[in-house]
Formats: sequence, C-alpha cells, structure tokens
Amino acid sequence: AAYAVSITNGFLPDEHPLLQLTDDYYLPWESVIGQLPQLLDSNTLRTTVDKLPVLSTSHLQTEPEWRRAYLILSFFTHAYIWEAGGPSDHLPPCISIPMLKVAAHLALPPTATYAALNLWNFAPLDHNVSLSNIDNLRTLNTFTGTADESWFYLVSVAIESHGASLISTMLRAIEACSTSNTSLVLSSLTSFTCTVRELGVILKRMNEGCDPLVFYNKIRPFLAGSKNMAVAGLPNGVFYDEGDGKGEWRMFSGGSNAQSSLIQFFDVVLGVEHASKPGTTSKSGFLKEMRAYMPGPHATFLNSLPTPSPIREFCNASPIAELVEAYNLAVKELAAFRDIHIQIVTRYIIRPARMQQGERGGKGLNLAVASNGLEKGLCGTGGTELLPFLKGSRDETKDAALG
Ligand code: HEM
Ligand code: ALA
Repeated sequence: AAYAVSITNGFLPDEHPLLQLTDDYYLPWESVIGQLPQLLDSNTLRTTVDKLPVLSTSHLQTEPEWRRAYLILSFFTHAYIWEAGGPSDHLPPCISIPMLKVAAHLALPPTATYAALNLWNFAPLDHNVSLSNIDNLRTLNTFTGTADESWFYLVSVAIESHGASLISTMLRAIEACSTSNTSLVLSSLTSFTCTVRELGVILKRMNEGCDPLVFYNKIRPFLAGSKNMAVAGLPNGVFYDEGDGKGEWRMFSGGSNAQSSLIQFFDVVLGVEHASKPGTTSKSGFLKEMRAYMPGPHATFLNSLPTPSPIREFCNASPIAELVEAYNLAVKELAAFRDIHIQIVTRYIIRPARMQQGERGGKGLNLAVASNGLEKGLCGTGGTELLPFLKGSRDETKDAALG
C-alpha cells in the first residue's frame, strides 16, 4: 500500500478515477476541460484559460481528487503551450500555481505525464468486465475529441491491467529464490512469458483504433515536452508564472510510455540492464530519468526491488537446464514485445514523417536517402532518438539471456 500498487490493477489505481471533481468550487476547471477539444479547434483555449480564477488546492481532499486535479491541469498545461499558431513559452498563474502544488503532492513533475494521460484517465463501461479489454474502456478527457486519441491512451490502460498479475507473480518468484523453490520460480517465469505474449497482442491492437496520420498530425503535437525544444520555439523551456513577479523557467520531457512502471518492473525483475555501454547509441540513462516522471510511490517501489536480480542469479547458478531455458524464454518474450513496439513506432512516426518530408521535398525524392536523414533528426516526445534508442533497449533486453 505504501507503494500505491494494487494487487488487481497494478499501477492503475484501485479506485477507478473520478469522472469529475464534485466540489462546485472547481466548476471553472471542469467546464474548461469538458470543452477542451472545441476550445482548441476554435483557437480560443488560451483566451478562455486566461480568464480563469486562480483556484486553491485547499478543497482537494481525497487522493482520487488530487489525481483528477493533476489530470485537468496536465491537459491545461499542454493545451496552453501547444495550441495552434505557435507555442506559448509562458504558463499563466491560474495553471502554474495550482499545478505546482498538485504535482508536489503526488511527487510528479508539473507537466503531462503517462500518469495523467493514461493511468488516471479511464472509466470502465461495464464494471463487471475486465479493464484488460480495450472495448470495455473509455477515456475521461482528450485534447482532440477523436476516438483515435482515446484508443491510443486505452491500449496502455489495458496493458497495465493485464500485466498487473505479474507484479505479485514475480515478487513471489523473488521470494522463492531465497528458499530455492525451483518449481515456483519455473512456473512464475512461464506465466511471465505467457502474459507478456498476451500484452504484445494488446499492443498490436493499436492498429485497430488509432489512425497513424491522426496520431502523427493531431495527437502527438500535444504530447510534446518543453525540453530540447529550441527548434519548436521553446529555447528556454516554459516560464511557470506564479504571479507578483514570481516564477521560473522549467523544462520537461513530453508524455511517453517510457514512464510506464510496469515495463520497467519487468526489466528489473528479470535483470535486464539498460546501463549505457561504450559504443552503443542507446541513451539508456533515459529510462532511469523517466522514473522521476512516475507517481512518487511507483518510482520508490521500482527503486526498492532487489538488484542484481535474484531471479537471474538463481537461474544462472542452477544446474537445471529447464530453468535456464524458462528464464531465456521470458527474456526473449520481453524483447519480442519491444519488437512489436518498434513496428508501431515505424508505422506511427517514421512513415508519416517520411511522407511529409517527401511532400515538402518535392517529387522524385529518394526514400532511402530521406529516411536516413530523417531518422537522425527525429525525436520521440520523451526526447530520445527513436529507433536507435528503442533498438538499443531491445538489444539490451536480449543481452540478459544466460549463455
Ligand atoms: C518508448 C512511441 C505506444 C511502451 C517510446 C518512444 C517512442 C514511442 C518514440 C521512445 C521514448 C520517447 O522519446 O518518447 C510510441 C508510439 C506509440 C507507442 C508512436 C503508439 C502509437 C506504446 C504503448 C506502450 C509503449 C501502448 C505500452 C505500454 C513504451 C515503452 C517505452 C516506450 C516501455 C520505453 C522504451 C523501452 O522500454 O524499451 N514509445 N509508443 N508504447 N514506449 Fe512507446
Ligand atoms: N513517445 C511517443 C512519441 O514519441 C508518444 O510519439
């Protein structure tokens, strides 16, 4: 409980997210978030937000209320910065002041994270049906009002839900190592492999409900951060104006599933290391950095897990070939999950980027040349170099295999 990890829902909250803040005091926020897509469409979001009063956080009582406030202010922050017509490098006090308080309460950065957009942004349609089923879910809020954006977030919710059982499974396996309970370690690794394969099936369903061009052109721009965004017009990041001449320039990575605690949990329990090695292109420190973008208790949970991985050490020291094989299959399945993800990134970012480069560059553009040039310049919303980073991360997964 100290880690805010749920037995059934994992890193999703045990209590489903609040649909709205019920205290009328927050009506001004709820009314703006309720019309966010329309306000962005008509380019009137900033002028509307500028008229908002600076609300206090003193009416927030329960944790679900703090999370709902964080979700609302995260959407406000990114909508305000990225409304059409060029970014704003200034965030007004009516967002900055409560956002800084709410983020501090949850030990999260004051920017849109995976927690705001995914973990705390869903409702089940039928409470008796599992959250692992995307078709049983809806989002609470989006920037664009498109079904594509909802689907994009909900695939992650389903993955978090379906993968949740592996948290207790693998914690039990770690315990089983200390009592040399080989059969339990073996069965846990087999469940891991089987469940991660199912997570890959859910991940592939991205293709069913989210159109790559809608994602690339309409959704993705709102997920962008304020760090290394000089080219986009934010050389100093964003000024969080706290009124009365107070405030600070701040820079944050954009929203990214690299902030999912579940996938990092898999790495830690299997002993997959993303330590930067000389000569590799992967910016592996990035994944550790992303822990600062997870809800505080979740990051603490990951940091509390034993290293080096007892499971990997136990399998490595075991004379039982079947156990080593089960470990290696688990590692292989996690690498396969990352391969599916790489295909998605190709379809949703690399290809749309290439197409537009082609349009701008004119006819007869050599695709091979364009792609090389492009992939170098392209960055993920989290700030990585996309494919070199993701392929590095996949290869580091494979490297955990026992010889
Ligand atoms: C990282 C894109 C959906 C899991 C990344 C990165 C990109 C990316 C570009 C690199 C980090 C960055 O700079 O942001 C996409 C796209 C998606 C998508 C375009 C869908 C259209 C998902 C989903 C999951 C996921 C549904 C499932 C949980 C991850 C993980 C990382 C990551 C775990 C960290 C890298 C790693 O651990 O190997 N993603 N992503 N992504 N993504 Fe996705
Ligand atoms: N991290 C994903 C991207 O770069 C969302 O588009």
